[in-house]
Amino acid sequence: MNSYVASGFALITGAGSGIGKNSAFSFAQAGAAGVMFADINEKSAQDAAVESKKYACNPNYRAVAIHVDVENETSIQAMVEAAIRDFGRIDYNIGTSTMDGIADIPIDEFDHVLNVNMKGTMLCTRTVSKAMLLQEPSEFQGRYSTRSLGRGSIVNLGSLNSSVVVPGKTSYTTAKHAVIGITKTAGRLKSFDSVDNAGQGIRVNAVCPIWVESPMTEHEAQVNPHLEHIVKAAVPLKRMAQPDEVADSIVFLCSPAASFITGVSLVIDAGTALTVRLL
Ligand SMILES: NC(=O)c1ccc[n+]([C@@H]2O[C@H](COP(=O)([O-])OP(=O)(O)OC[C@H]3O[C@@H](n4cnc5c(N)ncnc54)[C@H](O)[C@@H]3O)[C@@H](O)[C@H]2O)c1
Repeated sequence: MNSYVASGFALITGAGSGIGKNSAFSFAQAGAAGVMFADINEKSAQDAAVESKKYACNPNYRAVAIHVDVENETSIQAMVEAAIRDFGRIDYNIGTSTMDGIADIPIDEFDHVLNVNMKGTMLCTRTVSKAMLLQEPSEFQGRYSTRSLGRGSIVNLGSLNSSVVVPGKTSYTTAKHAVIGITKTAGRLKSFDSVDNAGQGIRVNAVCPIWVESPMTEHEAQVNPHLEHIVKAAVPLKRMAQPDEVADSIVFLCSPAASFITGVSLVIDAGTALTVRLL
């Protein structure tokens, strides 16, 4: 059987737009049995859920939309309970909710950026981990052995700003560095309420893209008219990533093909960070 499949149930936050929405579409194409589209903008989540049906390969595919605010622990708990109620289990959890801090900003905005990107990632990872621990592990028949797929797989959205810095992006860079700390800790150690995720078979990874075509970068381009020129100068492929290029990597990390991978930060930047700018 092809190991690049994802036939379980996915819960995706920030699923109404950009990378989250495209991750949902890629899961539908990879054979997912269902996707829960969670977003603070419920209308966009509903629209994405409807659109996802045209990509679905699994005849039993179900798409459900729900409101969530990842700054709010109660809202996250309600989302996870709804996913378990609707699907019976959560095989894949993708955390893409975001707000960007583009320039020097007031301290309450700094708090807001960290709350959505950092605290939201921690709360979602913790709450979903607890739910995953209660479900049975699944298996995949490899060429040499039956592989345990564990109880679930979580992918968080880092950024190239998880490892490199850009002037004027203090809040976003701080939050994205923290996402890697959360991912590594949750991927291996006794971290959240003494949960040993790796030992219990929950894989937790992150993807770290450079610029991706999405509403987030459309907004950035409005603020920074030089963005297109900067992308061409900095990125060896001279373009932003498409959101489905990131989504496909997310599905890979959730698939049986990645059964031995946990705690990694997969950089998706067309080699940009390998390049030293001399001037
Ligand atoms: N687009 C890029 O260039 C890029 C690059 C690197 C990393 N990322 C990361 O990828 C992820 C997705 O980015 P995107 O480009 O798809 O962004 P996007 O702006 O297109 O989508 C973000 C989604 O998050 C939702 N959201 C915002 N606040 C929320 C909250 N409190 N609770 C729940 N949902 C909330 C929004 O409604 C929106 O649907 C983010 O974590 C972002 O930091 C993006």
